[in-house]
Amino acid sequence: MRLFHTGRDSLVGLDIGASSVKVVELQRGRHGYRLRAYAVVPLPQGTVIENAIHDRQGVVSAIGSAMEQAGVKTKRAAIAISGNAVIVKMILMPKMHELDLEDQIAYEAEQYVPFDLDELYLDFHVLGPSRKDPEQLEIVVVACKREVVDDYRALLEEAGLELACVDCSVFTLKNVAEVIGEVSSEDIYHQGWSERDGPQTVALVNIGASLINMTVLIRDRLTFVRDHFYGGNQLTEAIQKHYGLGFEQAERMKMERFSELDAGLVGGYFDELASELMRSLEFYSAYHSKFPVERILLSGGVALMPGIADALSGRTGMQVDLMHPFPTIAIPPHGGLDAQAIMQAGPRLVVPVGLALRAFDP
Ligand SMILES: Nc1ncnc2c1ncn2[C@@H]1O[C@H](COP(=O)(O)OP(=O)(O)OP(=O)(O)O)[C@@H](O)[C@H]1O
Ligand SMILES: [Mg+2]
Repeated sequence: MRLFHTGRDSLVGLDIGASSVKVVELQRGRHGYRLRAYAVVPLPQGTVIENAIHDRQGVVSAIGSAMEQAGVKTKRAAIAISGNAVIVKMILMPKMHELDLEDQIAYEAEQYVPFDLDELYLDFHVLGPSRKDPEQLEIVVVACKREVVDDYRALLEEAGLELACVDCSVFTLKNVAEVIGEVSSEDIYHQGWSERDGPQTVALVNIGASLINMTVLIRDRLTFVRDHFYGGNQLTEAIQKHYGLGFEQAERMKMERFSELDAGLVGGYFDELASELMRSLEFYSAYHSKFPVERILLSGGVALMPGIADALSGRTGMQVDLMHPFPTIAIPPHGGLDAQAIMQAGPRLVVPVGLALRAFDP
């Protein structure tokens, strides 16, 4: 599932976040995927606020530095959109021919997307027959304003790149989880549901500086997605207030001396974060109460906070694990890459890894 993709040549995953620009390039070999190159270039505070670019030149130059640091040769990039830049809807449609489906979906989209169709890029993917009614198809529809995509295309061009693929952060999480064997890739579309095997419901949750991307899977079936603004910045701001520091200083304290932070401050942040996650999960359970989420797989920079898995597990009552793309995606020993640092940073690289995987789409 992606908004569009042109051609099958090499591709770099380019993730423009509120805290940094990240690039990842992968290679596919006989034994699976390998990391070819990566870089994370921090963005000064205010360059990207939530998911809006405020300092265009700042982003262009960070992209340039990231490409140079990583030593990526390809000019073709896959980017992710998320938050309020995109509308993702799960809908049900009676079974019909693919071409009729296209017309019907465009018609449906007009009902719930508050823009003219010709202002939008629209894409859809048939997930499979509905569990409740096998005569109906579950379909995920993605709509994004053309203006948003065109703006990214122009930005990339300024950085000397070509926009080759637009994906959604929430879908990259599923792709990575599958590739690293964290979720079943059993094809329930063709095999149908077998209730007797019981559900296996996982929430993939990416927490960045300002944005939480959430994807809930029932086995391999994409069932629910939601983005909302909340992230690591809330703890940075609490540190700023508590210790009277500037943003950059507080950020450094959080990254380098986490264990010295006031325990009440950190505990309070984990409480709030757990409530944020539970609130999103309530939107999910309103429609899928029969399949409660059993496990959370965490990624994003916030997943690197020491003790976060236990802290969230204690507060949500769910099993919480970190999503580590490496070393299932191998780190070549002779590529000049610092394997230990990459392993540690792994959860933070999930979105750009998922974007880089688009290079190998059929
Ligand atoms: N080792 C660490 N310890 C604690 N916090 C960390 C660590 N590494 C990163 N973070 C926090 O994670 C956040 C950045 O995560 P990430 O790189 O996933 O965000 P982003 O993709 O730039 O932002 P967004 O996705 O919200 O646009 C920041 O709040 C940062 O302080
Ligand atoms: Mg991010």
